[in-house]
Amino acid sequence: MKQVVLWIGANAGGVSKTTLTVHIGYEMAKRGFDVVLLDLDTNVSMSQFCGLDKDPPLEQTIAAVFSEDFDGNWPLLMPEWGKPKGKLQICLGGPVMIQVGSDLAVRNRREYVLADRFEDFPLPHQLVILDCPATLGNLNDVALAVATHMLILVELSPKSLTGANVLGATRKSEIGV
Ligand SMILES: Nc1ncnc2c1ncn2[C@@H]1O[C@H](COP(=O)(O)OP(=O)(O)OP(=O)(O)O)[C@@H](O)[C@H]1O
Ligand SMILES: [Mg+2]
Repeated sequence: MKQVVLWIGANAGGVSKTTLTVHIGYEMAKRGFDVVLLDLDTNVSMSQFCGLDKDPPLEQTIAAVFSEDFDGNWPLLMPEWGKPKGKLQICLGGPVMIQVGSDLAVRNRREYVLADRFEDFPLPHQLVILDCPATLGNLNDVALAVATHMLILVELSPKSLTGANVLGATRKSEIGV
């Protein structure tokens, strides 16, 4: 089965991105799939939702994956709750991602840093879910460059639906994927 990499996005904050990431992840793991949640957000929501350390050392976060000398050892953690049939793992982000986001601005192949890691050190999971910041920027671009699927949360109004369509299409084409 080909790996599904799901980007959960929105053009607003506080609209359930992390809630959905955790719930879809848990439900799929419950159905027997191996799932990993990659937290690219700068806030502590994912660690809070999963009962994990809100201020882990950098090497225990996805910031380590972005470091130039990453050796392929993805720092994966398990939530404090639940024992689904499949594997449910988490690579935490948090405040360390503020620096990662700004360093990306001057980095070579910046949009593809995560894509390069996926190619060199593939994750074995059937489903990868990317939880990103609400603000569109470098951290969303690296996520979009690896996404095979997108889920965009919108209000049910024609204006919002048009906006979501534009958001998906333009960001993908701007980074050339
Ligand atoms: N369906 C829902 N019903 C009621 N409350 C909800 C629902 N979904 C999420 N919430 C609550 O709304 C708040 C924001 O949710 P969440 O953190 O998932 O949003 P987010 O889009 O990830 O936010 P951010 O942009 O800050 O990362 C949380 O307190 C969450 O518990
Ligand atoms: Mg969130």
